[in-house]
Amino acid sequence: MRKLIIANWKMNPQNYAEAEQLLAAVLGGVKRIRGVTVVFCPPFVWLTDFSHKMRPVSFGAQDVFWELAGAYTGEVSLSMLQTSRVSHVIVGHSERRRWLGETDEMVRRKVAAVLAAGLTAILCVGEESREQDNVSAVLEQQLVAALGGLAKASLARLVVAYEPVWAIGTGEADSSSNALSAAITIRKVIRDRFDQKVAQSVPVLYGGSVSSENIVSFLSEEGIDGALVGGASLRASEFIELVRRAAAVSRSQGRLKLPVSTPRPPGRTAGWKKGTGVQPVA
Ligand code: 13P
Repeated sequence: MRKLIIANWKMNPQNYAEAEQLLAAVLGGVKRIRGVTVVFCPPFVWLTDFSHKMRPVSFGAQDVFWELAGAYTGEVSLSMLQTSRVSHVIVGHSERRRWLGETDEMVRRKVAAVLAAGLTAILCVGEESREQDNVSAVLEQQLVAALGGLAKASLARLVVAYEPVWAIGTGEADSSSNALSAAITIRKVIRDRFDQKVAQSVPVLYGGSVSSENIVSFLSEEGIDGALVGGASLRASEFIELVRRAAAVSRSQGRLKLPVSTPRPPGRTAGWKKGTGVQPVA
């Protein structure tokens, strides 16, 4: 199975020179590694520049607004992301839920908008506390809320990231067996709402203190299709090693094609070339 590694840089680093240096160093190290898909999610301000300069590299956004255009100060639209050659969008990260007041309803609208635009939505779910004994119920509640009203066909570009909040940025990753249980619950909820085929085809990632030391334990679980990586994606040598180890697991488990090409933007067909991600200006 081809594993998916998402580098979520969050609000780092603090200047363009460092960001460019980090990306160049990582790309230099991972460009010859086969069998794994790596998606970089830098802050919005550098996305366009990086995605036009660095090819072929997959880029993701850390958020998006659900409305397509208009008077929404500070927000970024899906068309803007598409013209910036973005193929993936993280939605409902726990840091946005906690610090920006993002609600289940906002997450639902964002997931629907991303999928309708033909981009891949990386939906984040996870419980708050390590002591919680209702993890399955929390995951079910978050998934049902986020996927409400979606047609089965639109889930072809859905990725779910299980990120227990207590494991994020703490250095205390979950165990791979717990992460696998969560992945099984996630697929069960999707199966019950949609069907078995959809449930099996949705990639499920683990996120929360992932490092080069523990990546193999997570990815060796066949039900875990990749990782959403925060802190470790900000250190070039650490991230390169993490990707190298992920690729080794990926190759040993066989191949699964994940959607990585930039999809066609809605209503803009003329001049659009499949797979290049270069969009004509309307
Ligand atoms: P850390 O890898 O720093 O724990 O962050 C995880 C995360 O939130 C990725 O989205």
